[in-house]
Amino acid sequence: MGKKAIISGITGQDGSYLAELLLGKGYEVYGLQRRASLPNTGRIDHLYGRKGFNMTYADLSDSSNLLRVIKKIGPDEFYNLGAQSHVGVSFDVPEFTVNTNALGPLRILETIRNLGLPIKYYQASSSEMFGKVLETPQKVTTPFNPQSPYGLSKVFAYHITKIYRTGYSIFASNGILFNHESPRRGQNFVTRKVTMGLSRISLGLQKTLRLGNLDAKRDWGYSKDYVEAIWKILQHKKPDDFLIATGETHSVREWVEEVGKHLGMKIEWKGKGLKEKGIDKKTGKIVIEVDPIHFRPNEVEFLQGDSSKARKLLKWKPRTTFKALAKLMTEADLIYVREEVAQGHPVTK
Ligand code: NAP
Ligand code: GDD
Repeated sequence: MGKKAIISGITGQDGSYLAELLLGKGYEVYGLQRRASLPNTGRIDHLYGRKGFNMTYADLSDSSNLLRVIKKIGPDEFYNLGAQSHVGVSFDVPEFTVNTNALGPLRILETIRNLGLPIKYYQASSSEMFGKVLETPQKVTTPFNPQSPYGLSKVFAYHITKIYRTGYSIFASNGILFNHESPRRGQNFVTRKVTMGLSRISLGLQKTLRLGNLDAKRDWGYSKDYVEAIWKILQHKKPDDFLIATGETHSVREWVEEVGKHLGMKIEWKGKGLKEKGIDKKTGKIVIEVDPIHFRPNEVEFLQGDSSKARKLLKWKPRTTFKALAKLMTEADLIYVREEVAQGHPVTK
């Protein structure tokens, strides 16, 4: 019989790709789904009915329910991907963010400890923990300097994972993943916001796209490559902490230009600060404007990871370049937007 894995956050970007990966490897997958007033399973609807795929209601804020579910399933592996994952939103809902992202992992680890079962635990740690970076490129050993409630909640989760590993001999590992994107990325993260927004503009469905800090730089990879690393981290012979990144860094501005190219635009920048505009040279139209509503109280300006430890010990490396990522996401969103229009979705001019 195949291994059993619980995935929290299965309805999210990474959870959906990880579920596909594990099912392909013959796992029995148990996804934790939280209650929502509208369907929240769009990314995994295609998996219902597939052999080995199961879903159950659970919430990371509910210890008794986590205990019941983990005890009943008795998994070999627990992938904790569930989180309030939006950094900007974490300034608006800090308590909820900390409850889910910091206390959620503690609740799972306490359950594993109390049950005394040999469950391997994966914690979805984040490059956002490096915050205002103290070293470049960032390594597994670089000190954290978080700048948001989200970043700090993840620092707690990172350390509590290590503490349960060393204190109670639980196979508990951290994957410090740098930004990773895909056509399944939430639409309020910058890469997807740009691929969706510029696709709509190219089809004449929207006039401009309003963004925040255009100078922020990120080390962007592809979610499908990164879930392979997540799986490999729990297959490593001993629990440990790994950093997963491409090693390349690009600005939001470069992402906009690259996506624009795939839509036949040539975006040039005019003006400074709040008055800066992105203009499509081919049409002369303004396509990007700056809106301070998207600025954060504290900003993480720069991230670039050194994943040499994972490349050596896990034999993992990213396969998708920045340019390839921009191409695949833009192509997917052009189709997505055309389908939205065909289905009669409202058009926001
Ligand atoms: P995502 O798309 O936002 O998915 C988050 C998932 O967590 C969703 O399934 C969400 O459920 C679930 N969730 C939120 N609050 C919950 C709660 N209280 N109880 C149970 N489930 C809850 O995030 P992602 O991009 O896939 O990222 C996966 C994990 O990796 C997150 O922990 C994130 O912080 C971390 N991470 C992501 C990146 C990245 O660049 N993507 C980088 C480093 C670390 P709903 O669908 O119901 O909202
Ligand atoms: N979301 C968003 N929307 N970000 C914008 C915008 C905008 O309109 N304009 C500029 N940005 C800038 C943000 O200020 C940030 O510097 C950068 O674009 C990336 O923002 P996001 O895509 O929201 O990602 P993030 O880096 O804040 O957080 C993501 O990566 C983390 C790993 O470093 C999330 O996936 C986190 O969950 C993850 O841990």
